[in-house]
Amino acid sequence: MLHQSGVFVSLLLVLLHINPSLPYALKNCSVQFSVNVRDVSVTCSDRDLAAVPDDIPRNASTLDLTNNHIQMINRRDLGGLSKLVYLQIVLNSLSHIDDGAFADMGELRELDVSRNSLRNLTANIFQGLSKLNLVSLQKVGLNSNNLHQMSEIVPILLLPNLYELDAGMNMFSSFDSDSLHVNKSNLRRLFFNGNPLKEFSIRRDIFPDLQYMDLTKCSDGFEWKVPNKTFLRSLTGLLLSGTEIRFETYRTILQSAESVTYLWLSYVKEWFDKGLTDIACQIPALTNLDLTFNDILVLNDTLLQMCSNITELALASNQMTGLSQISLRGLNQLEQLRIGFNFLASVPPAIRGLSTLPVLLLTSNDIGELGCSDFLKLTRLMQLFLSNNRISKLRGCVFRDLNNLRLLDIEGNPIFSLSDTFTGGLQNLRILLMRGNDLKQLEKGYFESVPMLLSLDLVSLSSYYVENGTFEELHRLESLIITAFTLTKDMFRGLRNLKSLTIYFPASLNNMTNQLFDGPAFLNLPSLRELTIKHNNRYTMVISPDVLRGLRYLQSLETEKFFTTTPHPDTFTFTPLLTSLKLISSNVSLPTPELFGPIPNLQALDLSKNKLCWLKLRENELTVINETVFQYLPALRYLDLFGNPFTCDCSNIGFIQWVKHNNQVQVLLDFDIQSCWMDISFICFISSTCIIVLTLLTSFIYHFLMWQLVYALHLFLAFLYDNRKRKKGILCQYDAFVSYNVRDEEWVCREMLPVLEGEQGWRLCLHHRDFQPGKPIIENITDAIYSSRKTICVISRSYLQSEWCSREIQMARWGRSWQLSPYYRMRKLVKKRTYLSWPRAGQHPGVF
Ligand SMILES: *[C@@H]1O[C@H](CO)[C@@H](O)[C@H](O)[C@H]1NC(C)=O
Ligand SMILES: *[C@@H]1O[C@H](CO)[C@@H](O)[C@H](O)[C@H]1NC(C)=O
Ligand SMILES: *[C@@H]1O[C@H](CO)[C@@H](O)[C@H](O)[C@H]1NC(C)=O
Ligand SMILES: *[C@@H]1O[C@H](CO)[C@@H](O)[C@H](O)[C@H]1NC(C)=O
Ligand SMILES: *[C@@H]1O[C@H](CO)[C@@H](O)[C@H](O)[C@H]1NC(C)=O
Ligand SMILES: *[C@@H]1O[C@H](CO)[C@@H](O)[C@H](O)[C@H]1NC(C)=O
Ligand SMILES: *[C@@H]1O[C@H](CO)[C@@H](O)[C@H](O)[C@H]1NC(C)=O
Ligand SMILES: *[C@@H]1O[C@H](CO)[C@@H](O)[C@H](O)[C@H]1NC(C)=O
Ligand SMILES: *[C@@H]1O[C@H](CO)[C@@H](O)[C@H](O)[C@H]1NC(C)=O
Ligand SMILES: *[C@@H]1O[C@H](CO)[C@@H](O)[C@H](O)[C@H]1NC(C)=O
Ligand SMILES: *[C@@H]1O[C@H](CO)[C@@H](O)[C@H](O)[C@H]1NC(C)=O
Repeated sequence: MLHQSGVFVSLLLVLLHINPSLPYALKNCSVQFSVNVRDVSVTCSDRDLAAVPDDIPRNASTLDLTNNHIQMINRRDLGGLSKLVYLQIVLNSLSHIDDGAFADMGELRELDVSRNSLRNLTANIFQGLSKLNLVSLQKVGLNSNNLHQMSEIVPILLLPNLYELDAGMNMFSSFDSDSLHVNKSNLRRLFFNGNPLKEFSIRRDIFPDLQYMDLTKCSDGFEWKVPNKTFLRSLTGLLLSGTEIRFETYRTILQSAESVTYLWLSYVKEWFDKGLTDIACQIPALTNLDLTFNDILVLNDTLLQMCSNITELALASNQMTGLSQISLRGLNQLEQLRIGFNFLASVPPAIRGLSTLPVLLLTSNDIGELGCSDFLKLTRLMQLFLSNNRISKLRGCVFRDLNNLRLLDIEGNPIFSLSDTFTGGLQNLRILLMRGNDLKQLEKGYFESVPMLLSLDLVSLSSYYVENGTFEELHRLESLIITAFTLTKDMFRGLRNLKSLTIYFPASLNNMTNQLFDGPAFLNLPSLRELTIKHNNRYTMVISPDVLRGLRYLQSLETEKFFTTTPHPDTFTFTPLLTSLKLISSNVSLPTPELFGPIPNLQALDLSKNKLCWLKLRENELTVINETVFQYLPALRYLDLFGNPFTCDCSNIGFIQWVKHNNQVQVLLDFDIQSCWMDISFICFISSTCIIVLTLLTSFIYHFLMWQLVYALHLFLAFLYDNRKRKKGILCQYDAFVSYNVRDEEWVCREMLPVLEGEQGWRLCLHHRDFQPGKPIIENITDAIYSSRKTICVISRSYLQSEWCSREIQMARWGRSWQLSPYYRMRKLVKKRTYLSWPRAGQHPGVF
């Protein structure tokens, strides 16, 4: 047993030595968890890397090297990454990429090398084109480099599946189809913003599919040379900005962009006076006009007078304090109006005419109070965004006409009460977002008239009191997020369809020393699938083992600072379908196998920020992992052990073995596994070698050499005896000692003795005749051998079966040759020494 495990350990070490770089143990990178196990997403961002790490799994599908100090990509750096789909080397110091650096990436769809120092791209950087590599590449990001020449991007434009090229923020001074040796490109989206463009010219029909083009912030105010409108027949989205571009150029552009439906004009306030919006709104296809960032302080009657065909209008970020009463008159096809991020102090009356408007954004303004007629007649409104204003009270009359409203976003306001809020309209409200308000309490009846609610977010900065039965009418509610003060099952009465519940417990307002969750808190939530509890726990909590009772269909549980110690082993017996469990900052010290026994479907386990003794997970303290715990997590796919000072010793060998041999769990370690392997294997090798040698020796000695040891002692004595005798010159008493088995005695006495002693006169020593009675048998044998010149062994079947006889052979051989030789090597002996074979020799007794 013992030496078997020793052998096993050293075999394992041999394996580890042969294969020291384990692909799942990435030192400088991490592998992200993904629901789709086939997505191997490797993140090496923000790690001060000077080169591409060499331990990236060959099957990575996403590789993110953002924000490091990589200066160049060699041909081999990314070799073999044939499964890569997304590659980001953003925000590094790249100045050179070897030819063919991406040649192996037949499946690469997106390549982003933005924000580097590339001055030029080598001619064959996309080598493999001819071999039809990089055929999948759709998106190339070169933003914020130092590229000058259009010729650099030719190989990219030739990619067969090119969809998007971002060449913005470089040093291109022209975009000129004549300098492109391209007959036709499949490019759909082009970002060329932020270049010092002097000229933009397309004189040939090489971009027939171009749909979207960003030419904002082209600081040199380019000339536009597109002689034939049909060259841009597919263009639907166009972004322009700045008064560097002359008004006449704008006019030319807008008049040739006949198919544009989305137009963004920013920083062009001066050109408004000349009627730029009027020209824009003449574009026959235009529906979506974006006038964000234009310093329109007050929207006047004339700016949009020609824009009656617009369906989406954005006037965000204009420092606007008001809209004239009739500024939006005529825009009666409007489907979306965005006037967020301005300085509006109230809902502008200009919107009142927009009786068909479905979406209105008034986010991030200065609105302090909502009047009862603010949304009058907006009966078609479906989404209303009022977040980040200064609204403190919501009166019921405000929403009177909003019978079709589906979504109301009033996040980030100082609303403290909801009494009377939902008394009129809103009977079709599905989503209510109220995060970051200042609620004091929720009472029964508040939500009586919004029975269609599906999703309700009431997270507040501080906890508020939730009266029993507050949500009683919300039978359809599926998602609820609250900031509670305590937890009782009656809080959730009526929520029979709730699928997802998140509860925050900020500790700011109450300094209770004991909080009791003694008993099941979720008995009223039979459909719950996801439960998240985030506690800001500053006091002792008592959580009963059946706190989760009733949550039979729960699939995901996330707690933070909720459990104050390892949950009771019965805790999860109530949630047999759990697949994802996060017990974060919960003082979990010893997650026993029993704890996971009742949840065999667990797929993701996060025990971060706990105090584990032997199970080491992200940001914990200790060092050894008992791998048997993983038996109880048969569905585990991903194990994150980042930030742990893993020890390099034999106590982890079982875990390492598990890591090595399990082929379903992706293990993430950040220690230097290679040098650790060295340490651990050296120590384990030495100790296991010692164990093996000792064990083998012990069992060998036990099995085979016990007698030999005894004999060795006697041999030693015999050696002394022999020497003494020789010194004394004592002559041999006998000519030969006859060693034989008792069963052969008859033959010895009848056949051998008469011939050798009788006829030939030799003096033989026979044990039955010449051994001294009373002397130990070993001593007798030794004496006999040493007082004889030769030894005659009568070797028969019975002789070989007798232990004494075989000892005699050995003694005889050792006595003569001083060589160690096991008795079963008789054959060897027989080969070397003279022997007679009876009965063949029996026919010729003369040979005696
Ligand atoms: C990726 O490779 C690693 C190591 O070679 C392996 O453990 C893992 O199962 C592979 N993942 C996929 C999705 O092929
Ligand atoms: C890993 O990152 C460290 C710095 O955090 C760096 O010194 C080391 O060279 C990196 N290893 C590889 C293989 O890039
Ligand atoms: C590319 O840029 C490097 C350094 O910026 C320069 O040495 C090299 O000559 C350039 N190659 C071409 C073809 O312009
Ligand atoms: C462009 O088309 C011409 C004539 O059809 C052809 O000779 C030339 O090789 C093509 N160029 C490229 C870069 O495909
Ligand atoms: C514009 O280009 C299209 C397609 O190349 C061509 O059919 C048409 O004749 C051109 N029109 C003019 C006025 O050149
Ligand atoms: C309307 O506002 C725009 C932009 O602020 C301005 O350029 C234009 O002159 C104004 N028109 C009138 C009639 O005031
Ligand atoms: C609005 O669209 C209609 C029909 O598509 C068109 O006849 C009309 O000229 C357009 N109005 C403007 C100002 O472009
Ligand atoms: C609310 O319900 C809990 C039981 O869930 C009960 O102990 C408590 O007394 C109730 N509170 C009120 C005010 O009825
Ligand atoms: C809670 O305790 C903190 C610090 O011990 C104290 O500053 C705060 O005033 C207390 N709050 C209440 C409501 O007692
Ligand atoms: C964790 O346990 C320690 C000591 O047992 C206690 O002081 C601390 O408050 C506990 N932390 C949490 C989050 O319960
Ligand atoms: C690992 O845990 C199992 C089950 O709790 C236990 O029997 C075993 O002794 C542990 N192994 C070590 C090395 O502690």
